[in-house]
Amino acid sequence: MGGPCVNFLRFVIQFQLILLALAQKQTLRTNSGNLAIFAFGDSFVDPGNNNYIRTISKANFPPYGIDFENQIPTGRFTNGRLVTDYAASYAGIKDYVPPYLDRNLSMEELLTGVSFASAGSGYDPLTPTLTGGVISMPKQIDHFREYKSRIETQIGKERTEALIKNAVYVISAGSNDFLFNYFWVSGIRRLSYSLPRYYHLLMQQLQHFLQDLLDLGAGNIVMMGLPPLGCFPLVITLKSNPINGFLERQCVTRISDAAQGFNQIAKQKCKEMERVDSQIYYVSLYESYMDIFQDPKKFGFDKADTSCCGTGILEVSIFCNRRSRLCPNVSDHVFFDSLHPTERTYSLLFEALAPTIDLILQGKQ
Ligand SMILES: *[C@@H]1O[C@H](CO)[C@@H](O)[C@H](O)[C@H]1NC(C)=O
Ligand SMILES: *[C@@H]1O[C@H](CO)[C@@H](O)[C@H](O)[C@H]1NC(C)=O
Repeated sequence: MGGPCVNFLRFVIQFQLILLALAQKQTLRTNSGNLAIFAFGDSFVDPGNNNYIRTISKANFPPYGIDFENQIPTGRFTNGRLVTDYAASYAGIKDYVPPYLDRNLSMEELLTGVSFASAGSGYDPLTPTLTGGVISMPKQIDHFREYKSRIETQIGKERTEALIKNAVYVISAGSNDFLFNYFWVSGIRRLSYSLPRYYHLLMQQLQHFLQDLLDLGAGNIVMMGLPPLGCFPLVITLKSNPINGFLERQCVTRISDAAQGFNQIAKQKCKEMERVDSQIYYVSLYESYMDIFQDPKKFGFDKADTSCCGTGILEVSIFCNRRSRLCPNVSDHVFFDSLHPTERTYSLLFEALAPTIDLILQGKQ
């Protein structure tokens, strides 16, 4: 057996199999092309919305972004990418989630997702004012509403509804409420609110926020819990005894505990508010942070209690600038400035988020 005719037939079949494989690959790609990612909240997920508003909470100058593509200081409060950028890459959507307020975004960028987050924002309505007039959570929802009608005029109502339903929504907020509002810099809320009452205030706002997102049609909400804030370099500095605080740098347990207390109630709230057709996943990053703080060397970090920019104990935003001294190796620091992780830390933290992204993607197959 095996004349030239059979060989030719075999060739044709093989060729078609290859085409089929390519076509399947193509279908997979277009499927993930239908998936969009949105972010709401604070600096942990803000890729530069604050560049477009009047505020001092900015990071669109060096050394921010020194490890970003082309070393561009985009407005991200780190040397490179954020957790949400890693999430978008991982889900096969795109490598960077751009800021919504960039009015020059292409339709393709808009359709695959944007961030509405604003560095300095929080659930407490007072927080965005205290941190320099940044974008409040209700205002971020307004922008999302505007976004929705903008794309509706382009792709129609039905496709818009599907896109909104299928998309992944990553939320990160609350840190600034505790740092800038409750414990310091103002400490205003602590004068009139016990911690349980403050939790209650934040939960009301969180509830409104989630309600709005669900009402607008969001199908997969991923809420990231708070980190152990007491271990952030600036917190350690400001809450330490001024005499030995610069030498004996220890996490402020009271502040980390307050964050963890918030996490427990927020997790419960997420569960309560789930709907049959809309999931709300609570993802804890607290343990991942703690693992790193407790044994930084294990993760290849040299320093966890001071940051890379400047003296490493104070500088953030405009105080971390082109005149600041920079550590020789950014990657061996947990923190880039005194309140924000380095890109490498974000990539490690993303591992806590990945299983939830997997779960969402599986649900779409
Ligand atoms: C807007 O995008 C276009 C195409 O990518 C680019 O040529 C132009 O410089 C951008 N404009 C601004 C203001 O960024
Ligand atoms: C910088 O730190 C990272 C993480 O510990 C390490 O892998 C890398 O080799 C270091 N680079 C240099 C030039 O020392």
